[in-house]
Amino acid sequence: MSVLNVVLYPDDPLTRKAAPFTEIGPELVQLAEDMLETMHAYDGVGLAGPQIGIARRIFVMQPPDGEAICLVNPEIVTMEGRVEGEEGCLSMPRVYSDRVPRATYIEVKALDPTGAPIHFEAHDFAARIIQHEYDHLEGILFPDRLDIISREAVLQEWDDVRAALDATSEHTG
Ligand code: NI
Repeated sequence: MSVLNVVLYPDDPLTRKAAPFTEIGPELVQLAEDMLETMHAYDGVGLAGPQIGIARRIFVMQPPDGEAICLVNPEIVTMEGRVEGEEGCLSMPRVYSDRVPRATYIEVKALDPTGAPIHFEAHDFAARIIQHEYDHLEGILFPDRLDIISREAVLQEWDDVRAALDATSEHTG
C-alpha cells in the first residue's frame, strides 16, 4: 500500500470529465487500497480518481460511522430532497463552505473493485459524500455548486491558501 500525491485545484485532471473503466482487472483492488490509505492519511472521508491524477471513474469513501467502500463506474439513479451543508475537499485543503446544496437521499449503482455489481441507498452525510465524489468524476468541485457570491468568496480564499502552500511546498500534491 502507498499514500498517493493529491492533485490541487485547478490542476489537471481535476476539471475534466473522467472516463469509465472498460476493463476491471486485479490492479483495481490495489488502486482502491492505495486510495483508501491516501484518504485516511489526509483525514478525508472521500477521494476520487482525478484527485490522484487518474481521470477514471472511481472513488473511495468512508463516512465517520460507516465502512470504507470503493465505487467503480458509479451512477446516481435517484436523488431526492435538498439541504445545504458543510463540505471541504482534499484538493482544496483548509477551505470550507457550509452552504453546499445536496440531495438528502440517493440511490446508487456501481461496480466494486472486483467488478461485482453493487446497488444501495444512502442518506444525509453519506449521500453528501457520494454526490461530492461523483462530481469529481464530472470535473466539478464543491465551489461550483455554490451561489455566485459564495463561490467567489471560496475561490478567493483558496487562491491565498494555494499560494501559501506553493510557497512552502508543505503539501505533497
Ligand atoms: Ni473533493
